[in-house]
Amino acid sequence: MKPRILVARPIFPEILDLLVSHFDVLSNQPDSVWTPESWKQGLSQCHGALTTGADPINADVLAACPNLRICANMAVGFNNFDVPAMTAARVLATNTPDVLTETTADFGFALLMATARRMAESEHFLRAGRWTQWRYDLFAGAEVHGSTLGILGMGRIGQAIARRGAHGFGMKVIYHNRSRLPQVTEGELRATWVGKEDLFRQADHVVLVLPYSPSVHHTVGASELALMKPSATLVNIARGGIVDEAALIAALRERRISAAGLDVFEGEPQVNPGLLALDNVVLTPHIASATIATRMKMAKLAADNLIEFFSRGQAMTPLNEVSA
Ligand code: DGY
Repeated sequence: MKPRILVARPIFPEILDLLVSHFDVLSNQPDSVWTPESWKQGLSQCHGALTTGADPINADVLAACPNLRICANMAVGFNNFDVPAMTAARVLATNTPDVLTETTADFGFALLMATARRMAESEHFLRAGRWTQWRYDLFAGAEVHGSTLGILGMGRIGQAIARRGAHGFGMKVIYHNRSRLPQVTEGELRATWVGKEDLFRQADHVVLVLPYSPSVHHTVGASELALMKPSATLVNIARGGIVDEAALIAALRERRISAAGLDVFEGEPQVNPGLLALDNVVLTPHIASATIATRMKMAKLAADNLIEFFSRGQAMTPLNEVSA
């Protein structure tokens, strides 16, 4: 008998075909919205699941799913997983690292550029038919090349952004991370470790790339924003909960910082109306890894994790250790 898996959200047809060739698949291709009850009910019938970052796997869900053995997240972030609870329930957790690093760094840089150079705001102005003549200060923004780039969280994606900043745009790169990079890596990236407060004080552009866990909730709040230069921009491609949105809205409204570029939100897919009302923000719907090629690689890796686990007892990119 084939193991039964749940595909929680729509996925590429070729990946679905691959899964169907290995598993008995319960699939949510119509993209029906799960309620907490229907989610537990669907998952409780399955031995494995291909999840996205929006699908919670916690103690309550696990208690309803005694047959569940693996959840393969199609995301590098896994804050939707309670990994200790999964380990206790002997459920393997996997994610999709590496395959999205460069694509996500491209987007982080694009969002930084769009924010600093006021691209969204100026495009809305043009579309509204308000462009009547050239002016010296029309949507004049902040310099990107040669400026100071501050990166909070220096994992794979942070390093890929540092490389773009230092080598592509001649930026001075400073970073803050719990652990410092080896000297040789700092040299290659031309990146300097600084304390968190110094990062906010010195950077012209702050990019947030740290993984979310409750311990970093609201890492950027009123006091961090107060340290930033009035001309500085903040970009978040990590998780919404890292930023205190109410404090950010106040700082942007009062022009205590210049602008923000946000791909992630505290209550996504709901976006705080206070952000929607501001001109000096660029808002995108959690798409940093969204190229066809990269999303395909993420889906394939998540599918391979399921296939390898059920055929050989080992996954490609496990997050915990669970005896088979
Ligand atoms: C990730 O991979 O973590 C992205 O944020 C997509 O969810």
